[in-house]
Amino acid sequence: MSVDTLTIPTQRVAKSRISELDYNNIEFGKIFSDHMLVADFRDGAWQTPEIVPYGNMPLSPATSALHYGQSIFEGMKAYRSAEGEILLFRPYDNFKRLNISAQRMCMPEIPEEIFMQGLEQLIRLDAAWVPPTAGCALYLRPFMFATDDFIGVRPSSNYRFAVFTCPVGAYYGQPLNVAIEPNYVRSAEGGAGFAKAAGNYGAALLPARKMQERGYHQLIWTDACEHKYIEESGTMNVMFVIDNVLVTPAAGTTILDGITRKSVLQLARDMGIKVEERKVAVEEVITAQKAGKLQEAFGTGTAATIAQIASIHYQDTDYELPPIESRRVSNNVAAALDRIKTGQDTDPYNWVHKI
Ligand code: COI
Repeated sequence: MSVDTLTIPTQRVAKSRISELDYNNIEFGKIFSDHMLVADFRDGAWQTPEIVPYGNMPLSPATSALHYGQSIFEGMKAYRSAEGEILLFRPYDNFKRLNISAQRMCMPEIPEEIFMQGLEQLIRLDAAWVPPTAGCALYLRPFMFATDDFIGVRPSSNYRFAVFTCPVGAYYGQPLNVAIEPNYVRSAEGGAGFAKAAGNYGAALLPARKMQERGYHQLIWTDACEHKYIEESGTMNVMFVIDNVLVTPAAGTTILDGITRKSVLQLARDMGIKVEERKVAVEEVITAQKAGKLQEAFGTGTAATIAQIASIHYQDTDYELPPIESRRVSNNVAAALDRIKTGQDTDPYNWVHKI
């Protein structure tokens, strides 16, 4: 826990909605905690943040984020330990990544004090919303958007940073059937694929829906030039175990530098598993499956955690993967990660930030 140097004016709700929360039945992304943090950037500076009741924000129809997409966000989780402590996972990594996204989208960077102390004070106030239930967490959604009411295309002068939180369960309820995307492109070299920018997700909706209409849960993006190399999956980075080696596309400028991705790779290395971050050709994965060498495939993400992939569709064929129970690498790493996040194991890299 850090010392508060920032006193955040707080307007509390008259009556908490916490009694409406069923801790044993939490759907992802539908229930919002009592309060949110709001900070505005105007006259070239961040103003004092405030904590206010969760609620709507009035916006001008000309709000520039709505037209030109200067809008970025993060996803993070806080867990409840068996001792009742609240443990936030790798918040400084989200802080850094939000500012990397801000730079790319020509937005002001958020100061560490507002981000970290804002999160801490918000979580402390809504502590009751951090579920004690296994497999659940408090999801935090920091975001920033351009608020100029002006319809010319230029970087906004005014911005809003806000954080709201929601108790969540699993994002994906079951192992995924995914399909390799042969036509659409998520991002290209020189683009903004590495930024957690709202537009990256908006542009992915149509291709994802088309895949869903064909019966697949998610798609796997391929590179913009040849559709030959694997990039990432819908809301996740993607990894494979081929012949006992954990292989994943290298984090360059076209894919999101996932925090769960980094954590999984580190823990796998610590377990003595060989890890390769490099280009991964679709053909390599399919050839490995045909030869019986594709042992595992899974996605990694804050919301998704570790999401198992049951089958991969490519060029008219569904390639089935080995049963989930047989997946030594992802199951062991997922369990180790979960133990660190929930304070059951020592935290050798100081990933866990106590609130
Ligand atoms: C996350 O994993 O936190 C994400 O931001 C993905 C998503 C829910 C859009």
